[in-house]
Amino acid sequence: MSTIIPAKGVFINNRWQPSSSGKTIAMIAPATGKVFGEIARGTAADIDAAVAAARHAFEKGAWGKLTATERGRLLTNFGRIVEKHAEELALLEATDTGKPMKQARADMVALARYFEYYGGAADKVHGDTVPFMDGFLVNTIYEPLGVTAHIIPWNYPAQMFGRTIAPALAMGNATVCKPAEEACMVPLRLAELSVEAGFPEGAINMVPGLGEEAGAALSSHGDIDFISFTGSPEVGILIQTAAAKNHIGCTLELGGKSPQIIFEDADFDAAVASVAGAIVQNAGQTCSAGSRALVQRSIWDKFIAALKAKFETIQAGTPEMDLDLGPVISATQRDRINKMMAMAERAGAKVLAKGKIADGAPKEGFYVAPTIYYDVERSSEIAREEVFGPVLAAMPFEDEEDAIHLANSTDYGLVAGVWSKDGSRALRVGKKVRVGQLFINGYGAGGGIELPFGGMKKSGHGREKGFEALYEFAAMKTLVIKHN
Ligand code: NAI
Ligand code: MG
Repeated sequence: MSTIIPAKGVFINNRWQPSSSGKTIAMIAPATGKVFGEIARGTAADIDAAVAAARHAFEKGAWGKLTATERGRLLTNFGRIVEKHAEELALLEATDTGKPMKQARADMVALARYFEYYGGAADKVHGDTVPFMDGFLVNTIYEPLGVTAHIIPWNYPAQMFGRTIAPALAMGNATVCKPAEEACMVPLRLAELSVEAGFPEGAINMVPGLGEEAGAALSSHGDIDFISFTGSPEVGILIQTAAAKNHIGCTLELGGKSPQIIFEDADFDAAVASVAGAIVQNAGQTCSAGSRALVQRSIWDKFIAALKAKFETIQAGTPEMDLDLGPVISATQRDRINKMMAMAERAGAKVLAKGKIADGAPKEGFYVAPTIYYDVERSSEIAREEVFGPVLAAMPFEDEEDAIHLANSTDYGLVAGVWSKDGSRALRVGKKVRVGQLFINGYGAGGGIELPFGGMKKSGHGREKGFEALYEFAAMKTLVIKHN
């Protein structure tokens, strides 16, 4: 990379302005380990200005006066603009996160789709008529909450922007976003492009910066009405605490340790391909990564042999090499993953297979060879905790009851897949697995804009995606009219 992308500042009222800190954060390309750009290091004062802009837009500005249909049109425009700039955005996303170009391109398709979907939905959020006493008419009305705060992670910066911002805007909220310091070039570019789409001042404000600085200032701000957060369970606690202090709501999406459960009567080849794919996708840095393969004992030997063969063909490389996976996001994340792998091995887990790091992948990049463990102790960390890297724990189970028990033996509950050609068995088991999304004979890591998504247990609460997301960003008002 020859020139460095300069910091643009903080985006407030449709304009870039300098951060009050005057400081910047270096952006590192994970594929090369080299600095390729800078972002502003936003402060609490910048957050104050952004929240004030959003408040004004919501209460007095042009944004708050738009009809639902007009908002929907802006969102739809935004989707088209994303499509027009898709290649530029995909390249930026791939540089910023290290993901293969084909995955970055697929992310832009999903991003555009978020705006298309919520553009269409904006004027279709209906209330109800409630039967009540004689002489009354009662209606429920969905209203926007006001100013919504959005703290997003680095694994899918573009998709996460679409997932959280699009439904909030569709409902008529004004937004303030704090993207992740590790990767946020696309969200920053999207803030600019929103002006081209026609969004009035203050609807979309964006303050890049550090989590403990700009992020903490945003989540504890006294003039926000809701927080949408995706990230670690530890920060999720801080977010929920901050929300509680202001008596506001929040949605938390905190990752998982999601299982694919493979019965002896599964479509064998499809299950093998799915298990490999669901952990390699985005180098395992996906909240819904399929990070546990639970395999019925009767097909265990055959299954892990096939999985090993498949995995040994997998390669990590640069975005341009466009292989199965890229590097992980940072040196910190790589070290965290390596530490968890060392712990797993100390606890007795054995390596079944490793993928390769391609020749020609820069040594300074943050590459981790995808790894499958077997002989995994059920109570060990690798069996229960999120790695957020390309590391799979494979474990055998005996029967349906054991499969359900094992699937539920983590604190998380985000996604699960059940593989069986016996439809009754798949449903019997699937219904007992405590997760927010259940796939039968498939596994949908990522995508699925229409499908409500969210966790149980430590995976968090609230639902994103689909129509459900709109209700999270709305308050119901009950209108009681006496007409005697
Ligand atoms: P993180 O939870 O620290 O970061 C997520 C977002 O929260 C970023 O925008 C960050 O700036 C912000 N943040 C951090 N501290 C904050 C604070 N005190 N107040 C307000 N906002 C704050 O996650 P991190 O450290 O990047 O990754 C650690 C682990 O978290 C990963 O290994 C993975 O297990 C999990 N994770 C899960 C994600 C998911 O999609 N569910 C996404 C990112 C991380
Ligand atoms: Mg952190």
